[in-house]
Amino acid sequence: MSIQSAIRTFSACFMGAALGISILGYSHTVMADTTSTDVKRVEARNDVYQSVFPEQYDSWKATSESQHLEDALAEDPNMVIMWAGYGFAKDYNKARGHFYALDDVRNTLRTGAPKDDQSGPMPMACWSCKSPDVARVIDERGEDGYFDGKWSRLGSEISNTIGCADCHDTKSEAFERGEPALKLSRPYADRAMNAIHQPFEDQTRFTQQAQVCGQCHVEYYFSGPTKAVTFPWAQGTNVDQMEAYFDALGFKDWTHKLSKAPMLKAQHPEYETWRDGIHGKNDVGCIDCHMPKVQTAEGKVYTSHKIGNPFDQFENTCAQCHTQSKETMQEIVSTRKAQVLNMKLTAEKHIVAAHFEAAAAWEAGATEAEMASILQDIRHAQWRWDYAIASHGVHMHAPEVALKVLGTAVDRAADARTKLARLLATKGMTEPVQVPDISTKEKAQAVLGMDMETMNIEKADFLKTVIPQWEDDAKKREASY
Ligand code: HEC
Ligand code: HEC
Ligand code: HEC
Ligand code: HEC
Repeated sequence: MSIQSAIRTFSACFMGAALGISILGYSHTVMADTTSTDVKRVEARNDVYQSVFPEQYDSWKATSESQHLEDALAEDPNMVIMWAGYGFAKDYNKARGHFYALDDVRNTLRTGAPKDDQSGPMPMACWSCKSPDVARVIDERGEDGYFDGKWSRLGSEISNTIGCADCHDTKSEAFERGEPALKLSRPYADRAMNAIHQPFEDQTRFTQQAQVCGQCHVEYYFSGPTKAVTFPWAQGTNVDQMEAYFDALGFKDWTHKLSKAPMLKAQHPEYETWRDGIHGKNDVGCIDCHMPKVQTAEGKVYTSHKIGNPFDQFENTCAQCHTQSKETMQEIVSTRKAQVLNMKLTAEKHIVAAHFEAAAAWEAGATEAEMASILQDIRHAQWRWDYAIASHGVHMHAPEVALKVLGTAVDRAADARTKLARLLATKGMTEPVQVPDISTKEKAQAVLGMDMETMNIEKADFLKTVIPQWEDDAKKREASY
């Protein structure tokens, strides 16, 4: 036995002693649990940990304080046009606290109003970054057993919002003792991370910490017969490398309703853009800013699980490494935010125009061959725009990456528009194509002929009839544990 493992045993005892009585109480619960089932189950019920790890639990629960819903499409109706023909044009809200992840995926119009466990529109994969039940179901049924089928298939199995078992190995004794026991609970994330780093167990604590976030705050697509979550990292994680990967595969998320371009939807490549930013390059990880170590009134140190805006805990985050005042730092970040926003809008102006101009070209009788390279430019322009802006917090994490990538988006859109102007001229269209009034979300959706009223009625019915049934079933299942 090595000295190192002896030290580990010692510190584990120490942690156990420090957490005292509640640890004993927890061991008791676990013993009762293991006698009732042969195989220990991943513990997806966050509430089980309330009395065991009160500081971590209470701070985790405090993510519920970030409850404000912001309608991103109302704020920027250009995006309705850019996502024409795809779910995101229906509705898209900005991120809020982890506590709401499950509610939000049930509530969004994107997941539709399935009436039974076979109907769509979305696949099972859409639960993947919303709940520790995903970790549990994969553990119990394997990845195919989880991914197979439509989103509604396991609606009553996925019943707890993002929590402990998403980041911790709840089956391990180390976690029971109060050690972090971090784990990549998603095997597809584990495989992808392994391919670009070393196996998780061999990594430094710092890289492990960032990777638990990177299971979800990352770029992915749905692939294969089960539409399984896959990270497009085989050629690398920057915008060019992932674009090359998707192009080589001939993959598209959808066909654009106006331009007919084969589109890509970036998810939220925060992990990738953070890596390329100044903090990522200096080994400053997500946890250093979003989950600092804090103290109770009694002086007990623990990890704050209230993941939110690091400026709300400035003394425990930025001020650990920087001497500037909070105001100075916020000023820097908001200036960068404004710069990124400005470039984002410039890119949108050109991409939106290109979609309408391409639609006009089809209308004027353009051929597939004439359109091919134009559609490829549009695909690339919008992928680049999306990679930058869907990386939430990018103006903080890697503003230079965002500005550079948005610059290339403008460039690709300009290429498309130059070619379109020439092509339209050959079809006798020399007047500029008019972009209709898309100044509000409603007007933009009307331009696309979207029947929002029916969608909203069906969703309301789904929330009133199907969700209570799922919740009942889940309660019964959990009561049997
Ligand atoms: C989004 C990921 C994430 C979630 C969700 C999460 N944790 Fe943690 N937890 C962490 C990280 C990261 C650390 C710190 C790891 C380190 O210090 O290396 C940590 C540390 C801990 C520790 C070790 C002691 C400490 O405070 O550092 C305990 C115990 C713990 N978490 C319990 C919980 C419980 C209970 C829940 C659910 C209510 C939970 N965690 C949810 C990521 C998470
Ligand atoms: C299981 C998937 C998952 C994991 C793991 C995860 N997140 Fe999240 N995170 C989400 C989702 C989904 C949302 C959006 C929730 C919503 O809006 O309903 C979110 C939202 C956020 C937000 C916005 C919070 C707000 O109040 O606006 C931050 C910041 C964040 N996550 C950081 C992190 C960090 C840091 C980690 C790692 C310690 C992490 N997340 C781990 C899925 C995850
Ligand atoms: C150096 C500090 C720092 C690091 C490291 C960091 N973040 Fe952030 N992050 C911030 C700050 C500050 C903001 C809010 C910026 C603002 O106020 O506009 C933010 C914003 C976010 C948001 C957007 C929240 C929202 O509501 O839109 C997400 C998501 C997020 N971070 C996730 C992560 C993830 C995941 C990692 C690691 C891969 C990470 N962050 C690393 C400081 C950091
Ligand atoms: C764990 C230490 C650590 C934390 C926490 C941290 N930083 Fe940094 N920060 C660094 C390091 C290291 C650098 C790179 C310094 C260099 O290269 O000169 C850096 C660089 C910067 C820079 C200058 C580089 C640039 O982008 O222009 C800014 C601004 C900055 N950090 C803001 C923040 C803010 C805001 C927070 C809190 C949300 C924060 N940092 C949290 C360590 C940290």
